[in-house]
Amino acid sequence: MLTDGHGRQFPYLRLSLTDVCNFRCSYCLPDGYRCDRGDSELTLAEITRLARAFATLGTRKIRLTGGEPTVRRDFTDIARAISASTGIRTLALTTNGYRLAQNAHAWRDAGIDAINISLDSLDAKRFARITGHDRHAEVLASIDTCLDAGYRAVKVNTVLMRGVNDDELERFIDFSKARPVSLRFIELMETSDRRAFFREHHVASTTIRERLLARGWLPCVRLPDAGPAQEFAHPDHTGRIGLIAPYSKDFCTSCNRLRVSSRGELHLCLFGEGGGLSLRELLAGDDQHDALVARIRALLTGKQAAHQLHTGEVGSTRHLAQIGG
Ligand code: 5AD
Ligand code: SF4
Repeated sequence: MLTDGHGRQFPYLRLSLTDVCNFRCSYCLPDGYRCDRGDSELTLAEITRLARAFATLGTRKIRLTGGEPTVRRDFTDIARAISASTGIRTLALTTNGYRLAQNAHAWRDAGIDAINISLDSLDAKRFARITGHDRHAEVLASIDTCLDAGYRAVKVNTVLMRGVNDDELERFIDFSKARPVSLRFIELMETSDRRAFFREHHVASTTIRERLLARGWLPCVRLPDAGPAQEFAHPDHTGRIGLIAPYSKDFCTSCNRLRVSSRGELHLCLFGEGGGLSLRELLAGDDQHDALVARIRALLTGKQAAHQLHTGEVGSTRHLAQIGG
């Protein structure tokens, strides 16, 4: 199993398939995606080799992310290739949901086990204001389609923002009470493109936590191999609520994930300095498998103990579409 210099293990890879996104979320790509690079995205063959190398290193779970991963024409083929032939056990997808209602069954058949859907408002007009797209009804419908399609887990990701949607906490809780989805409140993170937006709209996770506690939600004991969310349970709810608090002091201690960009660069941290570490030269042929495995193992020794977000050091991440939030 991949281990870094701080004793952390990495069973989980977040793999970005593209930087392109068709939404314009106000905290991420408010002016829409603009291509400012000439190199091409990893091909299906390169992605398959990468997944195999990580599987050899003990990675059990890959999350496909972006940008919006499903804008790729070969998205279904990529999902099928990873799930069928690499040794990865759990394949998850993070999506803005825009193509999900029509494809939920096909993607389940292609081997996607779990799905996270971004939904920042339960109000159609607000949703359109936040994302730049009037697709609220479709995204909502796609959540119910996923519940029918037999995914192992369906999660909803919500970024609570002051003066934008922070009055919707209760509505979101009611929404998750009515259906077996897990709700994840993600604390807004500062990125270099959106510093002023962050200052204006950031809601501290301690505030969200207090609001949950005040409504009778109780923190669950955290297991050593749990993901980044702190979980809460309520006696009247079957589902749990998760809080993702990147500014909390334990966040990095429990880090169990690595990231690879759509161009095959390994990012040891979401908020690292400098670009990623290129793996692409070693993705050209199956005969490079051992060299690739050795390179990833060696690069891991450079992983820092923690990010420096709390001091305003956001690293070189301009927005999360660049590296796959
Ligand atoms: N802060 C917090 N969450 C973000 N996401 C994108 N950018 C940010 C940010 N700056 C979230 C999206 C999506 C997930 C992949 O990352 O809302 O749910
Ligand atoms: Fe696209 Fe996700 Fe960024 Fe929204 S947050 S613009 S859906 S990449």
